[in-house]
Amino acid sequence: MKIKALQTKAHTEVLVINKFENEKTSSELVNTYVVEKDKFEGKFGQTYLIHTLGKEEADKILVVGFGKREEFDDNKMREAVSKAIKKLNQIKAKNAIFDFDVNCDYGKSAAIGAMIADYAYDKYKSEKVHHLDEISFTKFSQEEIDKGVIFGEAMKFTRDLANTPAQIATPAKLAEIAKSFNGIETKIYEKEEIEKMGMGAYLAVGQGSVNTPRFIHMKYTGMNPKKRIAIIGKGICFDSGGLDIKPASSMLTMKDDMSGAACVLGVMQALVKLKPEIEVHGIIAACENMPSGSSYKPGDILTAKNGKTIEVDNTDAEGRLTLADALCYACELDVDEVIDIATLTGACMVALGTVASGIMGNNEQLIKDLIKTAESSGEKYWQMPMFKEYFNSMKSDIADMKNTGSRYGGASAAGLFLQNFVTDNVKWAHIDIAGTAYLEKPQNEFIAGATGAGVRTLLNYVTK
Ligand code: BES
Ligand code: MG
Ligand code: ZN
Repeated sequence: MKIKALQTKAHTEVLVINKFENEKTSSELVNTYVVEKDKFEGKFGQTYLIHTLGKEEADKILVVGFGKREEFDDNKMREAVSKAIKKLNQIKAKNAIFDFDVNCDYGKSAAIGAMIADYAYDKYKSEKVHHLDEISFTKFSQEEIDKGVIFGEAMKFTRDLANTPAQIATPAKLAEIAKSFNGIETKIYEKEEIEKMGMGAYLAVGQGSVNTPRFIHMKYTGMNPKKRIAIIGKGICFDSGGLDIKPASSMLTMKDDMSGAACVLGVMQALVKLKPEIEVHGIIAACENMPSGSSYKPGDILTAKNGKTIEVDNTDAEGRLTLADALCYACELDVDEVIDIATLTGACMVALGTVASGIMGNNEQLIKDLIKTAESSGEKYWQMPMFKEYFNSMKSDIADMKNTGSRYGGASAAGLFLQNFVTDNVKWAHIDIAGTAYLEKPQNEFIAGATGAGVRTLLNYVTK
């Protein structure tokens, strides 16, 4: 789908207009038949489609409710455009012009909304989903639309990758993708080099699979970088649970356990197009968590890169083991901030559902900034507590810590576990997207499957 800015209104298949509550629309036809006769109020998200019977330049007019003018913002614009796109695809429209009665340049949000709603994962379907060919917006600049398209493409990239079956999206595949980015410096470490780096926690997780691990380090360097940031994505290409194997129903969606990695890859490829003045390191400790004769076992003691020892209490708490070594690695890069994003705990999903991601860390300002950026990006982050008591049950008699403890407070406990691998002088935030990265049912503008969680927020954060 092409998205363009348009100077003059032209003939089109569908003209999309808006109606604010208690205001008239820009079309007399709509005012007479839809608003007066049919009492269309324009409550936010309502839609109404009419045929013009040749009375207007367009064959059809789609009216979208914008709610109250004073409550309208970028998030509402994104949602409204999403609603319209779903409707347009439903009626199999090919072209549409959006002529909204607004005075702000909402081009970025509008383009993101259009691309989220137009997304389908039909690569393996014989019958393909219908897509619009081209949409245009009369009120927005091409510059803002283009920015939105870059964000939309990044989300699509991440969603496609997280939706890809684990048989294809292996650690080697993620490495190959990272290598393919122009304008990004990428170093891939294979098993022997990972051993040399002393990443005993990460290696243990991957040792049960025939698909060997790849440690991926990407680097984007903008002009005159003002800040240096590392973003780490959990890259478990499949989480069977390992020897502490998951029940079938819990394993069903575990190809998505590399959603954090997919997010980081999506962000890195977009940075080259957005060219922000910043240095960003994208880090992924990719591997598979599988049960086999060579798997790591409950009771094993692992030594992470920073020398700390971990007694394996449960092989299904594997993400934190891979992140432990990735965090050590990132802290050695001498960056100002480290942000990790991970489908880390079912507990976070129990606490916040599929609506919000959990966030914690060692720096209140960084956490606040990310929460705020998320809100304006259309995502929701909710801070989880880091009370030291959550760590009590992870104390080990024979090692520095265990990888799991109590059944309760699991999202916070995982955060405290990770903190052991972060150097105190580095600002660190951890985002748990276990609930938000992958939907089993459609939600808002998203179809079921991968959502691209984190992409918009991290892109806005690193480009602001
Ligand atoms: N990948 C899972 C977390 C997860 C659960 C992600 C549901 C998405 C949806 C993680 O590796 C895991 O298995 N966590 C365990 C930890 C437990 C063994 C302490 C969990 O949450 O059950
Ligand atoms: Mg697990
Ligand atoms: Zn996992």
